[in-house]
Amino acid sequence: MSAGPTLDDDLPLDDDLLEARRRDASDPLAAFRRRFYTRDGVLYMDGNSLGLLSRDAEAAVQSALAAWRDQAVEGWTGAPEPWFTMAERVAARQAALVGAAPDEVAVTGSTTANLHHLLLALYRPRGRRTRLVGDVLNFPSDLYALEAQVRRAGLDPSRDLILVGDRDGLLDEDDLIAAMDERAAVAVFSSVLYRSGQLLDMARLAAAARERGVLIGFDLSHSVGVVPHRLSDWGVDFAVWCNYKYVNGGPGTVAGLYLNRRHHGLVPPLTGWWGSDKRRQFEMLSTFVPAEGAAAWQVSTPPILSLAPLEAAVGILEEAGIERIRAKSLALTEFLLDLVDRHLAGFGFRVGTPREPHRRGGHVALRHPDGARIAAALRLYGVVPDFRPPDVIRLAPSPLYTRFEDVWLVVRRLRAMMEQRLHLQAAVPEGTVT
Ligand SMILES: Cc1ncc(COP(=O)(O)O)c(C=O)c1O
Repeated sequence: MSAGPTLDDDLPLDDDLLEARRRDASDPLAAFRRRFYTRDGVLYMDGNSLGLLSRDAEAAVQSALAAWRDQAVEGWTGAPEPWFTMAERVAARQAALVGAAPDEVAVTGSTTANLHHLLLALYRPRGRRTRLVGDVLNFPSDLYALEAQVRRAGLDPSRDLILVGDRDGLLDEDDLIAAMDERAAVAVFSSVLYRSGQLLDMARLAAAARERGVLIGFDLSHSVGVVPHRLSDWGVDFAVWCNYKYVNGGPGTVAGLYLNRRHHGLVPPLTGWWGSDKRRQFEMLSTFVPAEGAAAWQVSTPPILSLAPLEAAVGILEEAGIERIRAKSLALTEFLLDLVDRHLAGFGFRVGTPREPHRRGGHVALRHPDGARIAAALRLYGVVPDFRPPDVIRLAPSPLYTRFEDVWLVVRRLRAMMEQRLHLQAAVPEGTVT
C-alpha cells in the first residue's frame, strides 16, 4: 500500500501533537524504530496481525541462506548459528518472555497444531470430569480445535464443550471461573482477546483452576512480546502462541508452546524424531527416546528459514526488555484512548477495550456500525488498521516501531475522514463480512 492522498495538510501544532513529540523525545525505546522497515507516510497499526520486518531479521535470513548456499548439509552443525540446535536456542530465549524455565518451552509447529497436540495429551475425560471449557470470544481456530478434541475424546460437543458467553464483547473472569466446576477437565482461554484487546487475569484464572482440579491453558498469541507473563509462578499448565504478531518473527513463523514442569513425564502423543534427546537423535534408534521437558513436543525438522528471523526478532525483544515494552505499549494505548475520547466523540465510535491498564493488551478496539468501510477508507489515507466483523476496527500501536506522533496522526486522519464523510466513498474489500 502506498501512502496515498494525505489528510495531513496544514497540521496545527496543537497541544496534543506537542505532547506526542515530547513523549517521543523521552521514549527510551525510540531508537528501535530505525531497526524496522517502516514506510514513509504509512501508519502501520496492524502489528497485532503481522509485525514488521526488522533489519536484524532480514540479516538473519540472509545469513541462513548463505549458510545453505556455502555449507549445504554442514549448516546443521557448522553454520554461524547451527541449525541443529536453533529451535532449542530460540525456545530457551523465549522462555523469559513467558515467564518459564528454558526447558518448559518449545518453539515448534503452529499455534493450532500445538493446541491440538497438548489437548490430545492433557484432555483426558475421567469420571464426572468430562468437560472442555472455553469461551465464545476465542479465536475461531482455537474453537475448532476445542470442538474437534471433544469429538476425539468420543464425546458430544453440545454437552461437553462449554463456551462461556460474553458481556457486550468482553469476558468476566467470574463467569469463566464458575464454568470450571467439578465437571470440567480442562479450560482454554486466550490471554488477550483478539477482537476487543481485553487482557484476562491469567494469575487469578490459573489459581482458580488449580483449586478446582481443572487443568488450564492459554493462547498467548496476542500477548507474547507485548505483555510480561509469569506462567510458571502462576501455575499455568500449558500455553501456545504464534510468533508473527508482537514478536515480529515473520509471516507464519514457527510457533511456541509451554508445558509446566509438572507434566514433563508425559510422552507426547505425536512422537517424531525431532522430539528426541538431542544426544541420541542420530543413533537412529527404533524406539523414541524423548528430550527432557517441552523439547520432546517437537515433531519434525524445523523450517530454518523461518526460525532464523525469529531468533533475531527475539534478540530485539531481549534488548528492549519486556517491562519497558509493556510500559510504552500502555502509554501508547492510553494516549490513543484519550485522543479518541476527545476528538472522535459524536462520530458513532465506541471503545471496545477495557479502560483499566491491567485489563488491556496491546491493541485498542474501536467499534462502529460502519467499521468495515471506515477501516477500508483508513487504508486509502495511509493508515493500516484491521477489521474484525461485525464492527471492530483494531488499532495496534506496536511499541518497538510506533511513535506517539503516529498515534496522534491516526486519530487526526480518522477525524478528518469522518468530518468529510470520506469513508462513505470507500469500497469494502471483497470477502469482508459487514
Ligand atoms: C489468538 C490466535 N490464536 C491462533 C491463531 C492462529 O494461529 P496459527 O495459524 O499459527 O494456527 C491466531 C492467528 O491470528 C490468533 O490470533
